[in-house]
Amino acid sequence: MREFSKSRWADPGFTREYRENADIYIVERRRMLQIMKSFYRHFLMDGGHKEIMDLGCGDGIIAHELLALDRQVSATLIDGSEDMLDKARERLRGIENVRFIRASFQEILEKDILGRKFDFIVSSLAIHHLTMDEKRELFRMIHSHLHDGGYFMNIDVVIAPAEALEQWYMKLWQEWMDEKKASAGMEGGCFDDIIRRYKEVDDNRPDTLDEQLDALRNTGYKDVDCFYKYGVFAVFGGRKL
Ligand SMILES: C[S@@+](CC[C@H](N)C(=O)[O-])C[C@H]1O[C@@H](n2cnc3c(N)ncnc32)[C@H](O)[C@@H]1O
Repeated sequence: MREFSKSRWADPGFTREYRENADIYIVERRRMLQIMKSFYRHFLMDGGHKEIMDLGCGDGIIAHELLALDRQVSATLIDGSEDMLDKARERLRGIENVRFIRASFQEILEKDILGRKFDFIVSSLAIHHLTMDEKRELFRMIHSHLHDGGYFMNIDVVIAPAEALEQWYMKLWQEWMDEKKASAGMEGGCFDDIIRRYKEVDDNRPDTLDEQLDALRNTGYKDVDCFYKYGVFAVFGGRKL
């Protein structure tokens, strides 16, 4: 498993660039967050206390949304980047029932540092940094840390099952960024290398949606499905028991 400290996410300049521009280069980011919240409201929000965990939390956007939605939430936020966790701490300042853990997925897989079970485990745009074998291992670890009836949701990039589709998905992505840049009044070639970076950089190990859905089913998750998809961006997951 590639060490977190050797990934681009260990570089604060890189994490800053992501925070400043994620709404431009993550296709339908806000919609995917809406879907995550609708899922939480529908399947989990029942007035009782809920333990949630965000894996690869970045600046804490997901926990922030869930804590605003449900006062009964206790949140565990995990990220390998101290810089990202600092931003998450800033975003969630003054909110109770939040804990922050600086750990890489590699460390979480090696030793059980979580020490509790969760009702909802969510991850956004982070698990694609793992190989398919590591994803399987992480899906198993997540399953073992869910309460019965708990849910896992992953918002992530996937690869297309065919080259022709891949080419179109990359166009869809470029069209989205062009539209966003135009409405933000941005000129020039900014972000023109995002797609190339996504495909060429060694940190990114996206796998097909089918492989990941199969891995979830084989681990024992129920009601496994893709809840939303737009080109390479997908929202998928399942339930424990
Ligand atoms: C694209 S950002 C997404 C952040 C946030 N979840 C969001 O949706 O805005 C990916 C995050 O995953 C974290 N990350 C990447 N690889 C990781 C690993 N191996 N272990 C722990 N965190 C990791 C990065 O530090 C970064 O905060």
